[in-house]
This record gives sequence, C-alpha cells and structure tokens, in this order.
Amino acid sequence: MFPIKSFHTFFPKGDKIVGKRIFLLFLVLLSIQCKESPAIPTGLVTEEAMVVSAREEASAIGVEIMKKGGNAFDAMVGTELALAVAYPFAGNLGGGGFMVYRKNNGDVGAIDYREKAPLSASKDMYLDSLGNVIPGMSTKGATAVGVPGTIAGIFEVHDKFGSLPIKDILEPVIALVEKGVVVTQKQADRLDRYWDQIIEVNGDHTLFYSKCVAGDTLNYPALANTLRRIAENGRDEFYEGETARKLSAFIQERGGFVTEEDLAKYEAIWRQPIIFNYKDLRIISMSPPSSGGVTINQIFKMIEPYNIGKYGHNSPKAIQLLTESFRRAYADRNYYLGDPDFVEIPLDVLLNTNYLEERMEDFTFDKATKSEDVSHGVVDIVESSETTHYSIIDTQGNAVSATTTLNGAYGSKLYCDELGFFLNNEMDDFSSKPGVPNMFGLIGAEANSIAPEKRMLSSMTPTIVEKDGHLWMVVGSPGGSTIITAVAQTILNAYEFNLSMQESVNAPRFHHQWLPDFIIFEPDGFSEEFKDKLRAKAYSINEDRTPIIGKVDAIRVLADGRLEGGADPRGDDKAVGY
Ligand code: GLY
Repeated sequence: MFPIKSFHTFFPKGDKIVGKRIFLLFLVLLSIQCKESPAIPTGLVTEEAMVVSAREEASAIGVEIMKKGGNAFDAMVGTELALAVAYPFAGNLGGGGFMVYRKNNGDVGAIDYREKAPLSASKDMYLDSLGNVIPGMSTKGATAVGVPGTIAGIFEVHDKFGSLPIKDILEPVIALVEKGVVVTQKQADRLDRYWDQIIEVNGDHTLFYSKCVAGDTLNYPALANTLRRIAENGRDEFYEGETARKLSAFIQERGGFVTEEDLAKYEAIWRQPIIFNYKDLRIISMSPPSSGGVTINQIFKMIEPYNIGKYGHNSPKAIQLLTESFRRAYADRNYYLGDPDFVEIPLDVLLNTNYLEERMEDFTFDKATKSEDVSHGVVDIVESSETTHYSIIDTQGNAVSATTTLNGAYGSKLYCDELGFFLNNEMDDFSSKPGVPNMFGLIGAEANSIAPEKRMLSSMTPTIVEKDGHLWMVVGSPGGSTIITAVAQTILNAYEFNLSMQESVNAPRFHHQWLPDFIIFEPDGFSEEFKDKLRAKAYSINEDRTPIIGKVDAIRVLADGRLEGGADPRGDDKAVGY
C-alpha cells in the first residue's frame, strides 16, 4: 500500500537510505502492532511540555516561554509571533486565525481572530461593470487585504489566560528577529517561487528584492521595532497607535480598503467550539466562521456506524467510506456555512445524527456515488493551502491548538517594509460572486458573500481530542479545503489504525471535496494496483492537483502521560519539548 518510493517524497535525495530504513521499520511496526497493544511512539517523546510547529525556532520559543514558567497560552503568543519571523510564508502579524483550547480542568473554548471585511466592502466589490470578477483584485496587493486579527487574538488570549508579562513573552521573539532566521532549502525554494509576484506587488525596494539561498540569514529590523512598540503599548499599538496609522496609510496609498477606523473596530471573538463524540473520543474543534469543526463532525458521524478500524489502514474499503463521507460533508459545507454573525446556519440539522445517517443511506461499497447526485450541487471550493498550524501542551496539561494564515503564500504578497510584515489576501476566501468560480476556481454560496465587517469562511480546523475524558491529542494542519480531511485522517490513523503520533502524521493522505468529483492522492503514496481497484468502482482519480495534502503538527498524550510529537516531514516542521 505504501510503496517505498512514496516515502522519498518526504526525504531529500541524500537521506534516501535513512528514509528507506525508517520506512521499513515503519512497515515492521505496523505489522506487529494490533489495536489492543498501544502504538509504539516514533516521534519526539517528552515528559512535561511540547510545541510542534512549522519551524524549530518557533517551537523552541514556545518551549522557552514554558520553561520560564509560562503556560500553554503564553507559549501560544510567543509561537504565533515567532512564526511570523521564521515562517513568513504563513506565520503573520498581518493575517488571522483560530485557536481551540482545553484547560487542565477540562474547560474548553475557542477564539476567532479571523480577518474581516473592511467597512467599505460590498458584495460586488471585486466585480467589473459587467458583473465579472476582476482577476487578481481579491488575491494580490492592497485590494485583497482584510482587517488583520492576529494581534487582537493573541492579546485576548493573554489577557484571559496568560501568566507571564507580555514583555517577557515577546523578548525571545524580538531576539530572534534581531539575530535573524537561517533560510532552509524549502524556504529558499518558496521565496524563489513567489519572488516575481512579491516584486510585482512591492517593486524593487522591498527587503525581499535580494534573492536568498539556503543558509543565508534573513533579518527584519523593521519588525523588531514594530514588536518593541507592541511590547510597550500592547494590543492598541496595532489597532490604534503608530502601527495602525502607518499600516492603514500604507494599504490605502496602494488602493486598498482597510482604514484606521477598520483597525480600531477590530475585535477577536470567543466562540463556543463544535464538540461531538466519536465512539469513546470527544472531539473539540473550531466553529463557524471556520467550516472545520462542522465538517469534521459530519464526517466522523457519517462513518461511525461502520467499523473502519477493521478495514485496514488506507485500504480501498476505508478510502471508499471516507471519500463518501467527505463528498457529502463538503456539499453541505459549501452551501450552508458562513460567518454566524451574518448568516443563519442550521447546525441543529447539519449535526443531527439521523440527518447524517440519511445522508449515507445511498452509499454502497459497490460503486462511487456521483457528486452531481449529492445535494447541494451548485458550489465548489478550492482554497489556497498556505496556512500554518501549531500544537502546544504545557506542564500542567493545558492544551492549545491554533491555526493561523495569510491565506495565499505570503498572503497578498504586499510586504510593509516600514513595519516588517506581509499582509493577508483573505478577502479571496469570500465568494466574490456566488456560484461563479474566481480565477482559482473558488466558488462559494450566498452564505459566504462579502459584507462590511463580515468574516470570510475558513477551513481551518484546530482540534483537540479527549479519550475516556482525558486529553489525548492536539492536532491541526494547513491546506485550505484539504485541512479538514488531513485532520480527520490523522485522528483516525491513531485511533482506528493504532499508528503512533508521528506515523499518523507521516502516513500518505488523500482528499475528496465533493466537487470537483475526484480523489486526490499524495504523489506515489498509493500503488497503481490500489487505485485501479477504486477506478473499477467508478471513482475518478486526479494526481496532478497538489503535491502534498496538509502539513499536520500534532501532539498525543501517551498512556503513561508522556507526550509524543508528530511533526510533519512534508515541511521543516519540528517538535520541541522537555
Ligand atoms: N485561508 C484558508 C482558510 O482559512 O481556510
């Protein structure tokens, strides 16, 4: 099922022999483990606390904060900002995100620091006089920027749950900015890939004009000044202070819509997370305006009556069952979901067990269902995949699951050299014209149309899982619409197929999202013979669309209380702990 060459996707050429050995060990472990005996950990195992994120520097800062006596919430603030430094591809001050938490006393909650549409926004703002979507307007440059939420989010979390002074938390982040970040090969490749667009948007005076190669050190002096002002003046520096004035002037001079008033009005919002049971798991995930929690809830409830654990990991039967649940859940997702402060979402129906059983009534293992036969058949969604996720557990057992984004790679590509950060292009997560695809094929429904101060629909799925009433897993992923299926597969890999945390993250993934009606498999992750079995049942398979599906960073609490990290080898991701 996992041909050896598939593993090479995740290991650079020089590491192939090591990769092969690890993979063989992986197969041996798989064959000797049965569900009754606990999975043997293969990721980093620590006793006390852990952070898993897209960059070692960010994970290490989260851990340093906890070693100084901070809790998981303090570590969240440091990790989030450190990602803006070490991973500007998606880490941000100029974007937004969602966080789900579970305190050690079992209290759970969630915060929405998603960007929102500016006050001047309107439903047709990205359409020309003929009603056609203007290419690029919602994706590139200042016109694409939504009101950023990250700084409001982390300060809100700190105000409610933080234990260290904000200055102590920001100190290692500012030190990282001053020291600079060593560019990895993957980072150099990404910067190279987007260089033309970054220069097209910013001109040749931007910091990113000089190309860098792996091993170079990236310094952002302007960001150090911005962070120092935020450390001194707090949240209001970003939304009402010097930073707010400079930021709004910068965006408006370039034709964008975000004003000082938009920044001053921004608030992060505490939300009730989506909570549901799957067998003896209790899963806590993000509620609208993210679709993550609702969709993953539908998926798990649709597959619960089947004994997927007996079908075999990534077996044709398991993939059929999951694909059919994905298909039906995404059909609902795309039609019904939007910002709950603006649209009525029938959650009581969408999450009702009888409704979900009915949705699966026409499913059979004999043949694929056609997406055109699954209502609501008018919308499609293809989101960009450049987001980032981090998972944290502290020494007291508090857990934080946070996913944050600029939307596209380096967001709108607009980089404010004076302030030292990229700005999002999250406005493109709205449907610019309901029912009609934008230039990236993204189609949305009326529920996700643009309105002033509305939040755009997201797929981010920061999730926490309890087993038998105890904290069991913290998990999430980037990947646009593939986030939800990547997170679902990771949980199932550990729970139903008894893989370790690291194996659950490593395992090849697949994705289906109702429309377009095909399954995407990670490259080389599944044999042709295997795919032929699905083709014989009328499943269409597309292997070109995306090289990887998600980039999961997760932590699992082992039976003896130790923590096992799962840092995705698809990126530079790293688990750090003690
Ligand atoms: N911008 C990607 C998402 O929110 O899902």
